[in-house]
Amino acid sequence: MDQITFHYDTVLSDVHLLLPNVRHLMTRLNHVGQPVFISKFKILWDGERQDDNDAGKGLEEEEDRKGDEEDAQAEEGEEGGEGGVDPVLDEDGDLEVTRRPKTSPPEASDRDEVCPIILSQSTTVQEEEEEEEEVENEDKQRSKDIIRIEHTMATPLEDVGKQVWRGAFLLADYILSQQVMFRGATVLELGAGTGLASVVMAIVAKTVYCTDVGEDLLSMCQRNITLNRCLLEPAGGEVRVRQLDWLQHDLCTDADVEFSWTEEEVADLHDNTSFIIAADICYDDDLTDGLFRTLYRLSSNFSQPCVTYISIEKRMNFTLRHMDISCEAYDHFRRCLSQLQGLEDGRRRFRVERLPTAFPQRLQYERVEQLELWKVTATPLQFEVPSDSELLP
Ligand SMILES: C[S@@+](CC[C@H](N)C(=O)[O-])C[C@H]1O[C@@H](n2cnc3c(N)ncnc32)[C@H](O)[C@@H]1O
Repeated sequence: MDQITFHYDTVLSDVHLLLPNVRHLMTRLNHVGQPVFISKFKILWDGERQDDNDAGKGLEEEEDRKGDEEDAQAEEGEEGGEGGVDPVLDEDGDLEVTRRPKTSPPEASDRDEVCPIILSQSTTVQEEEEEEEEVENEDKQRSKDIIRIEHTMATPLEDVGKQVWRGAFLLADYILSQQVMFRGATVLELGAGTGLASVVMAIVAKTVYCTDVGEDLLSMCQRNITLNRCLLEPAGGEVRVRQLDWLQHDLCTDADVEFSWTEEEVADLHDNTSFIIAADICYDDDLTDGLFRTLYRLSSNFSQPCVTYISIEKRMNFTLRHMDISCEAYDHFRRCLSQLQGLEDGRRRFRVERLPTAFPQRLQYERVEQLELWKVTATPLQFEVPSDSELLP
């Protein structure tokens, strides 16, 4: 008999788990055969109603919402509403559930029938480009406050970047709450995944280097930047999708490699970057070590003082090793942070602080208490203002 293989390392982001709706249809398979979905995330600007922690609503267009409400009302009506029906028990006292008879939809229903169809599998780059062009034309019609993100669902660990994670929302909320600070800045995002935080950053910043690894993921990220062009154009912000591997010492400048850097971009990054952002990037200790080495190396080479914002979700897992609940990846992240805290290497001084997360919620997701935001400041020593005591003779 064939052996059954369990894919124990497949993960699904809570963002996608909690937000299904009729528009969450698979649009196609990407060229490596993974189902691709497009989700919409609405930015709630000042004055709009926010239902914090109401995970389902941000994605849905008004008509979807209306439809769902109507459905809920219809169900309540049919079941007689809360408290209207006495539970039916069998002779042992078990609850007997009466199933509602299946009815065919009324002919004149004004709701679209949901028929998920895989239209085609994109096989060539040309096909993907044609789709992009179509999307671009649609773009012009689109609302200025909807972020559209192409993503996959339930990926193996090595493809987690193809899903959107809650940390990206927390970071995006922070960016939207600090627009004055980020306006006109040059920003580097590490482990950008689908690129959601970079899109939001480019609403205010001048240049965002949106980085990750893997041609496949970077292509998806690039498509997301194109999908959201109408959000970025008014402010003139630009997103450049580039390869940056935390396990490599140098940036790739080989012109034959897709998503490589030009010499001008490398110079711009070193001379002008004042912020680094990273969302939900600590889930494997070796990668976390690589990330912190990269952070240290980059911010030591930047000409400007550099502030890094890292969002993280403290995930509890049961481990056989501990026979208990633990959060090893988070604990390792905290150890890396404490190694940076107070570090002075002759050129830079590093300071680490945890930021409060009480800033307004502009995107709708569940802002669970395990979501944290950390700030790492790297100040070149020549930029430091001497304290009063240091000035005294
Ligand atoms: C959990 S995902 C987070 C994606 C995105 N920031 C978000 O919050 O939605 C972690 C990201 O780290 C990236 N990553 C993993 N190893 C990396 C490496 N060696 N260099 C750069 N990025 C890496 C993954 O490709 C993935 O996009």
